[in-house]
Amino acid sequence: MSTPTMDEAAKVLADPSAYADDERLHAALTHLRANNPVAWVDNPPYRPFWAITKHADIMAIERANDLFLSEPRPLLAAAEVDDALKAQMEAGMGLRTLIHMDDPHHRKVRAIGADWFRPKAMRALKVRVDELAKRYVDKMRDIGPECDFVEEIAVNFPLYVILSLLGLPEDDFPRMMKLTQEMFGGQDAEHQRGDSPEDLLAVLTDFFNYFSALTASRRANPTEDLASAIANGRIDGELMSDVDTLSYYVIVASAGHDTTKDAISGGLHALIENPGELKRLQENMNLMPTAVEEMIRWATPVKEFMRTAAEDTEVRGVRIAKGESVYLAYVSGNRDEEIFDDPFRFDVGRDPNKHLSFGYGVHFCLGAALARMEMNSFFTELLPRLESIELAGKPELSATTFVGGLKHLPIRYSVR
Ligand code: HEM
Repeated sequence: MSTPTMDEAAKVLADPSAYADDERLHAALTHLRANNPVAWVDNPPYRPFWAITKHADIMAIERANDLFLSEPRPLLAAAEVDDALKAQMEAGMGLRTLIHMDDPHHRKVRAIGADWFRPKAMRALKVRVDELAKRYVDKMRDIGPECDFVEEIAVNFPLYVILSLLGLPEDDFPRMMKLTQEMFGGQDAEHQRGDSPEDLLAVLTDFFNYFSALTASRRANPTEDLASAIANGRIDGELMSDVDTLSYYVIVASAGHDTTKDAISGGLHALIENPGELKRLQENMNLMPTAVEEMIRWATPVKEFMRTAAEDTEVRGVRIAKGESVYLAYVSGNRDEEIFDDPFRFDVGRDPNKHLSFGYGVHFCLGAALARMEMNSFFTELLPRLESIELAGKPELSATTFVGGLKHLPIRYSVR
């Protein structure tokens, strides 16, 4: 592929189709890291922003959470979508999840769910996660010798885990799956409900209606689950506002699902493409923890978050004015040559592996331990039973600037 010009490279970040073409995306990011690591991107329909592509700069910005704020622009969206979401918020029906908030409110809201993601809660959930991992590996065996791994396996397993943690009934599985895909795959034609801001808001409204009913029921009859902790969570002695409560469900249901699906399918794809690493792992399953980290680095399911400068400041000598936004390019940070030896090599034993796939600082992924456990359970179940595996067609990536990965991974395999 020819070297992109500076302007082409920067614009790629604000072009959903580029995320469906790994080679094009990485050529642009490699070029930016080397030549323009704090790049101005002006590519309508998005409002302009600074693209931050170096690992150290992304960490420094996330660490300075009183200077670089999540409000009012936590992620990249077309200007008209930004405006529609703002209007919705002003009308009292908006989405304000943990990722939209800043401290001190953010810290208080985060604390309400935090216990459910600590090691003790994870240990309690492990039996259920292992059981689900086995269920899906058994399913692979039963539907073999070919399947679309994303559609048949990876999409279902993490959603079941999240629904279990929340305490929701399995019957609600299809409805949740459709809504999370419509919400996070919003820019990809295959998954979106429609292409207008109204369509996105309709998805949000459906989410809100479902979870409003759940809140009412958990307040009337509290249970021992995360849904109940959220419904009855208090800040400074008061129940959380409707917007904060409903948004909490939305972030848990959606952040815990597509991300892990993308990490599992991206991880399996990497193992297929690197049969030596697959064999190495199968022969030494003690490498599973480092292998899981490497799969998460490799897939980088969350492509970006944004922050907005509260004051005039500088990054790497480039002046950022108050009110301007920075785009934290996790995909780029995770291939930064200054941090990772041979960053384009998939290495199941990579250690250290300071990837940024879970972000950094006060917003560090609340579900990181859960995601790691899910992946560990799944591959620990699958690999000893996997006798052969190869691609049975062309894998396809989703076209989205936010959460994304493989949307199809056709495989031919034999599972005992
Ligand atoms: C491999 C899978 C996952 C990846 C790659 C991932 C990635 C991320 C990233 C990049 C952030 C933002 C961090 C920042 O701004 O510094 C985040 C936040 C978050 N994630 Fe995850 N995540 C994954 C799985 C999960 C799971 C399983 C859950 C469970 C519910 C979850 C829940 C959350 C929540 C609630 C936040 C917001 C935290 C806050 O703003 O304080 N994630 N995640």
